[in-house]
Amino acid sequence: MNYTIKTERLTLKKPRTNDVEELFTLMSDSKLTRFLAWESHNSSETTQELVTNLISSQEQHKGYHWCIWLENKIIGLVSLIDVKRKIRSWTLDRAELSYWIDSNNQGKGFATEASKAVLDFGLTQLNLHKIIIAHALENKESESICKKLGFKQYAHEHDAFKKNNRWHDLIWYELIKDRL
Ligand SMILES: CC(C)(COP(=O)(O)OP(=O)(O)OC[C@H]1O[C@@H](n2cnc3c(N)ncnc32)[C@H](O)[C@@H]1OP(=O)(O)O)[C@@H](O)C(=O)NCCC(=O)NCCS
Repeated sequence: MNYTIKTERLTLKKPRTNDVEELFTLMSDSKLTRFLAWESHNSSETTQELVTNLISSQEQHKGYHWCIWLENKIIGLVSLIDVKRKIRSWTLDRAELSYWIDSNNQGKGFATEASKAVLDFGLTQLNLHKIIIAHALENKESESICKKLGFKQYAHEHDAFKKNNRWHDLIWYELIKDRL
C-alpha cells in the first residue's frame, strides 16, 4: 500500500531512519509535551528508538504514522495508534488519532489539515469503522481540532493521568464511518 498522502499544503509520509535528526530537533522542545504521554527528547538515540518502534508497529499494522512535511521540512507527526481489528469473536476495526505540530508552525491549521486527510485514509484505505481521540481538559487547541474534525464527545474521564505532579482529566471523542 502507498501510505503517502498529499493535502493542499502538506505531504504526509511514513517515518524513515533518515528523518531521525530532523525529528530530534522538533521533539527536544519541552513546550510540545505538556499534556503528552512522553517527555521531550534529550538525545537523538531516544528519537532513533522511537522511529524504529514506529516503523516496526507499522509493519505489524498495529499503528500507522506519518511525518508531516511542509515543502522540504518536517513540521510534525500524525498517527493512528492502538489499531484493534478483533477481540475474540468481536470485530472492532478501530484506532486512535494522535498528533503534534512543531511550536513554530502552530496556529496555521496544519494539525487540522493533516488529521482530516489521515481520518479519510483510515476510514477508506485502512477500512477502519471507528476512530477515537482524547485530549487533556485544558488542551483547548486540541479540543478545537476535535470539534472541527466532526468528532462527537462520548466521555469525560476524571483523573485519567498524572503529569508534573497534577492529575488531568481526559475528554474522549469518537468518529464513526458513515455517520459523519
Ligand atoms: C494541538 C496542536 C497539534 C494544534 O496544532 P495546530 O496546527 O496549531 O492546530 P490548528 O491550527 O489546526 O488548530 C488549532 C485550533 O485551536 C484554536 N486555539 C488555539 N489556541 C486556543 C485556545 N487557547 N483556546 C481555544 N482555541 C484555541 C485555534 O484557533 C485553532 O482553531 P480555529 O482554526 O478554529 O481557529 C499543537 O498545539 C500541538 O502540537 N500541541 C502539543 C501536542 C498536543 O497537545 N497534541 C495533541 C494531544 S491530544
